[in-house]
Amino acid sequence: MTGEKMGATAVVGLQWGDEGKGKLVDLLAGRFDAVVRYNGGANAGHSVVVGGERYALHLVPSGILSPGVKAVIGNGVVVDPQRLLEEIATLRERGVDTDQLVISDRAHVVMPYHKAEDELREQLLSGSVREDQTQSKGVVNAIGTTKRGIGPAYADKVQRATAVRIGDLLRPDVLREKLELICSMKNAVFSALHPEGVEPVDAYALAEEYAALGRQLEPMIRDTAYLLDDIRREQGRILFEGANATMLDVDHGTYPYVTSSNASALGIGAGSGVPPQCIDRIIGVVKAYSTRVGGGPMPTELFDATGDAIRERGREFGTTTGRPRRVGWLDLVALRYAAMISGATELCVTLLDVLSGEQELKLATSYRTSEGETDRFIADGYALSGVTPVYETMAGFSQDITGVRTFDELPEAARAYLNRIEAFVGVRIGIVSVGPDREQTIIR
Ligand code: GDP
Ligand code: IMO
Ligand code: MG
Repeated sequence: MTGEKMGATAVVGLQWGDEGKGKLVDLLAGRFDAVVRYNGGANAGHSVVVGGERYALHLVPSGILSPGVKAVIGNGVVVDPQRLLEEIATLRERGVDTDQLVISDRAHVVMPYHKAEDELREQLLSGSVREDQTQSKGVVNAIGTTKRGIGPAYADKVQRATAVRIGDLLRPDVLREKLELICSMKNAVFSALHPEGVEPVDAYALAEEYAALGRQLEPMIRDTAYLLDDIRREQGRILFEGANATMLDVDHGTYPYVTSSNASALGIGAGSGVPPQCIDRIIGVVKAYSTRVGGGPMPTELFDATGDAIRERGREFGTTTGRPRRVGWLDLVALRYAAMISGATELCVTLLDVLSGEQELKLATSYRTSEGETDRFIADGYALSGVTPVYETMAGFSQDITGVRTFDELPEAARAYLNRIEAFVGVRIGIVSVGPDREQTIIR
């Protein structure tokens, strides 16, 4: 119980998600005692390729694939118990040991009515529901959510009385009473908003069903703040696995086109119970270009054959929803801002191999706005949609770099591209990924 507690490391996305956080977490996990998710829910889709086998993780931390490493779902995560149990079952069928998984009793539960509400809100915003008073006028658009109930679950968390936490699933009386109150409110809202009416939610049946799910999860439920503190006291090492990404952070992203949690590194303390000064290494993960799924501005988006070619080579189709990802050039203005917000102490540049074959590579270094040129990011979804990126053009490379394992072996143009990123952002690139497999990584 004496001595210094160990510092922690974090892996955080610096763009709009899908930067390859899962791959990096899996690569590092073996050196840690616990891998911790602190935000988001099943909106995340983290792909890990081990020995040619591909795993898609949504709620379970990617550390689960490393034997002996605790996989912790922290209090800041919103958990859909059905999806979680399905994910656990799938992992077990594939021979993965899931006994190391623990869930915070303070994590919030995503209920079926949250998913229904997510769907309904998106329909209203996209104008597909014909109700005079709720029609979108074209300024306020759908967010393009994953429809996993994330926003409504976080909204209920903040509302307090209408929320169910994982710990409540183990208290049948509390659960029933809460759900009776919650369902009467939800039913009133749903029937008022939905033109065709919706099936009313039966509180009693829901309470029974979720109490049963709670019994299945019970062996994994813990006070994870104490668990993590115990690990640190025993000189254990903790790795935080960010979900979603900094530009989707509810406070610092391209609001309102964001997710509903603090998906930057700023969410770690609140979402895990580990205080901020304990984190001494923050690896900001960034693709060598940009992608985005769903609505919202993306200044460097490509609508041409170059964008299509990058999408095809990078297999840019969502891990969670299968939607084609929007593709664009790397936006250094946004990246420098994201590195600042998340406090990145180093960068990991991923999918560099995908740029092979492009004659020229473009990097956005400032934005032209109605008020002039700026190299500062504009963290506002409406204002950002009006900017035009100003590009710097660099030479491309054509070699296949998927077999390269050292920085010096990279083509000169690729090294120059990485050096330019590093110089602009002011943060060292410590890791470069040149393929989905664990081995396809350059550690500098
Ligand atoms: P995450 O959400 O940040 O974990 O990222 P995703 O797993 O959703 O998306 C990243 C995709 O790129 C996955 O299909 C990975 O297998 C793949 N990937 C990761 N790193 C690399 C890389 O360096 N090169 C290539 N070609 N693919 C990669
Ligand atoms: P990972 O962890 C990419 C996006 C959605 C949508 C917006 C809000 O795999 O990087 P939500 O369902 O969270 O309310 O949707 O955020 N989004 C992601 N995009 N990767 C993710 O996670 C995302 N999580 C949310 O597409 O635009
Ligand atoms: Mg993903």
